[in-house]
Amino acid sequence: MPSYASWLHPLSPVLLLAIPLLLAVLILSPSIPFSSNRALLASPRFFSMVRSSEEIWSVTRVVEWKPCHWWTDRPLTALPPKTNGFIRVDCYGGLNQMRRDLCDGIGIARLLNATLVLPKFEVAAYWNESSGFADVFDVDFFIERTKGFVDIVKELPEEIAGKEPFRVDCSKRKGSFDYAEVVLPALLKHQFISITPAMSQRRDRYPLFAKAALCQACYNSLRLNKALEKKGFELLSAIPKPFLSLHLRFEPDMVAYSQCEYNTLSPSSLKAIEAARGDRKPWTGDAARLWRERGKCPLTPNETAFILQALAIPTNTTIYLAAGDGILELEGFTSVYTNVHTKSSLLSADDFVAMHGNTKAALDYYISINSEAYIATHFGNMDKMVSAMRTLNGMYKTLVLSRKAFASSTSKGLVGKELADAMWESHKEDFVMGRGTALPDCFCEIGM
Ligand SMILES: *[C@@H]1O[C@H](CO)[C@@H](O)[C@H](O)[C@H]1NC(C)=O
Ligand SMILES: *[C@@H]1O[C@H](CO)[C@@H](O)[C@H](O)[C@H]1NC(C)=O
Ligand SMILES: *[C@@H]1O[C@H](CO)[C@@H](O)[C@H](O)[C@H]1NC(C)=O
Ligand SMILES: *[C@@H]1O[C@H](CO)[C@@H](O)[C@H](O)[C@H]1NC(C)=O
Repeated sequence: MPSYASWLHPLSPVLLLAIPLLLAVLILSPSIPFSSNRALLASPRFFSMVRSSEEIWSVTRVVEWKPCHWWTDRPLTALPPKTNGFIRVDCYGGLNQMRRDLCDGIGIARLLNATLVLPKFEVAAYWNESSGFADVFDVDFFIERTKGFVDIVKELPEEIAGKEPFRVDCSKRKGSFDYAEVVLPALLKHQFISITPAMSQRRDRYPLFAKAALCQACYNSLRLNKALEKKGFELLSAIPKPFLSLHLRFEPDMVAYSQCEYNTLSPSSLKAIEAARGDRKPWTGDAARLWRERGKCPLTPNETAFILQALAIPTNTTIYLAAGDGILELEGFTSVYTNVHTKSSLLSADDFVAMHGNTKAALDYYISINSEAYIATHFGNMDKMVSAMRTLNGMYKTLVLSRKAFASSTSKGLVGKELADAMWESHKEDFVMGRGTALPDCFCEIGM
């Protein structure tokens, strides 16, 4: 794979200084346990010296994440001889939120020794389209790849076909709860139920065979259907290589939802945020400051450009903007990073206009799991899916920008070079430790 990470000035005095230091680190470290090795690598002096000539991706990682052996290794735990009933997972929201719920539902089905029917992808008004599971994912591939992990059928047996499933409402349960206690009795009684998994479940208590079903189904068995994959491939082919896929989130509804205050935005952006606000008023005064310091405030395009520069990512890097249409203040980014491609610049106008939200989200996902590098300004559902898929495929140039590090540094009054150094330090630490690429449910860390 071509790499644009190796960009260095061969004769840079900074690099010449850094080499003896690096050697010293290497010579001193072999017998030192992991943690002190890490402390040496994390020495601020060392990295601020190397920084000016090296992209973040060139930093030596000390931890790598790989799929855990308990779901990749065979033989599998045998499936139960008799099913306890049929479960349909009903998924709502954006594409990646639906996928997350599907993943959870598969784990639950296996936990309860149930058979899964194809999930229902209920498309929220936001997407303005109707799209079932088969409209996004390759059904036959899904069934083939989950064989042995969990039972999945396309058609219900005759005696229950045509019946509506009994709906078990998991959302009413507060706190952590146990699916075997709550859902199994309804399953045994009705034989065909539908659920939408709740976030509060205790996945950590699952037996490994249920977790294995979840991991295999979610990360090894879902690929876009033929039509979407073809579109994705066309789009991918149109982007100059190598490129960085940037998931930048700064839409009016997202900013409004964050309840953060921004004083430096243009009047038209502030108006758009105000219009999206509803009854969620922004925090003010001390509460606003604390909220920001907790990392709750989305990074602006301008701040994103600053951090990318702090990570020594060249401003002429080819960037694909994996994002929706409504990003505010995008000029704050594109005035610095000038080589930015978007769906609307790459697709024909007809194609672009005809495309609905879910399709666009599927394309962004496809591009982002196939790009040389991926950076997200937020760790949302898409970023979690993309990070996991990249980890699965050994694509380690993946990073989630830290809103918290940025906010706490700026609140200390850091600006310019000092702020850039602080951004380098905190993101380097994340990158070295593989944070942000890690989904601890299905992936395990190994030292390098
Ligand atoms: C599912 O089957 C396994 C054996 O395959 C058994 O140990 C477990 O108790 C069963 N669980 C339920 C909820 O039926
Ligand atoms: C939803 O679709 C209808 C019909 O295709 C269209 O008239 C309407 O403008 C769309 N709404 C949004 C929010 O995109
Ligand atoms: C961000 O905005 C400030 C103030 O408008 C400007 O001075 C600065 O150059 C911008 N930084 C970037 C990276 O665009
Ligand atoms: C960016 O600039 C560097 C140095 O000027 C050059 O070597 C590199 O090819 C450029 N990259 C792109 C994608 O234009």
